[in-house]
Amino acid sequence: MNETAAAGQIPPILLIGCGRMGSAMLAGWREQGLAASVAVDPSPAAATFAGPDMTVVASADQIPAGFQPAAIVLAVKPQNAAETLPDYARFAGSAVFLSIMAGRTIGGIANLLATPNTSLAAIVRAMPNTPAAIRQGVTVACPGPGVQDAQRALCDRLLQAIGTVAWVQDEALLDPVTAVSGSGPAYVFLLAELMEQAALEQGIPPDLARILARQTVAGSGALLAASTDDAASLRKAVTSPGGTTAAALAVLMEPNACPSIVSAAIAAATKRSRELAG
Ligand SMILES: NC(=O)c1ccc[n+]([C@@H]2O[C@H](COP(=O)([O-])OP(=O)(O)OC[C@H]3O[C@@H](n4cnc5c(N)ncnc54)[C@H](OP(=O)(O)O)[C@@H]3O)[C@@H](O)[C@H]2O)c1
Repeated sequence: MNETAAAGQIPPILLIGCGRMGSAMLAGWREQGLAASVAVDPSPAAATFAGPDMTVVASADQIPAGFQPAAIVLAVKPQNAAETLPDYARFAGSAVFLSIMAGRTIGGIANLLATPNTSLAAIVRAMPNTPAAIRQGVTVACPGPGVQDAQRALCDRLLQAIGTVAWVQDEALLDPVTAVSGSGPAYVFLLAELMEQAALEQGIPPDLARILARQTVAGSGALLAASTDDAASLRKAVTSPGGTTAAALAVLMEPNACPSIVSAAIAAATKRSRELAG
C-alpha cells in the first residue's frame, strides 16, 4: 500500500468493468471524493465515465505506463474472469484485488492471477447488491490470506461508498449471503409485482394499483430503515386483532405459505451459489 492511501488521501484505484455495478461504485466513490484513476472496459459506453479524475481505456495493455494502483476492483461478469484476470497478474504483490464477481472464490481468483514471478495476490471477495446504485446497498466482504489491515481499510472505504458493509472471515458464508442480500432485491420487487396484480384483481385501476404497490414497498422499506424496531415489531404495530391486516397475515403466515416458501427460496439460491462457485 502506498503512502497516499495510508494517509487517507485519494489512492490510485484501477476499476475493471464499468457496467451496472462498476459504474454504481464509481458514482459512490466520486460522491466521497474518491475515484478510480484508471478504468478498463471495452464497451464504447464506458468512455462516458471518463473525467478529470479518471482515464478510461478499452484494454489492459492501454493502462498508462508506470501506473501503480493501490486497489484493483474486479467488476466484470464471472464468466469473463478467466480471460480478464491474467492481464492484471503483474499487480499481484503490490495492489489489493477487490472482487465483486458472484461465485468467484478467493482461491479461484488467486489461481487466475498467479504467475511464476509474482507473489500470492491479496484478494478481498465481496458481495454487494443493486441498491448500491443509489448508495443504499449492503455488501458482505471477506478478506483472503495476506490482506493487510491498510488494504482491508481501503476496500472498506470503497465499499462504504455504496452502502452498508459487513465483514466475515468464513468465505463459505458468501453463498447464503448471495441468496439473502445479493439476490434479495428481486424478492422485494416480486412482492411489489404481486401486490399490484392483486390490487387489479380487487378492481383498483391500473395506474393507482401501481402507485399503491410501489409506494407501499418503498415507504415500508424507508420506515424500516429509519426505525430502531425490528421488522416483526413494526408488523405487529400495524396489526389490530380481528382487523384487515390480521386477515391478510393469517393467510400469508400459514406454515406452508410465506415462512416455508421464503425459507425454501433462500435455500435454493444458496445451493445454486455453491454449484456455481469456482
Ligand atoms: N448486478 C447485480 O445485481 C450484482 C450484484 C452483486 C454482484 N454482481 C457482480 O458484479 C459484476 C458486474 O456485474 P454487472 O451487473 O455490473 O455486469 P455488466 O453490467 O455486464 O458489467 C460488466 C462490464 O464489464 C465489461 N467487460 C467485459 N469484459 C471486460 C474486460 N476484459 N475488461 C474490462 N471490462 C470488461 C463489460 O463490457 P461489455 O458489456 O462490452 O462486455 C461490461 O461493461 C459481476 O461479476 C456480478 O456477478 C452483480
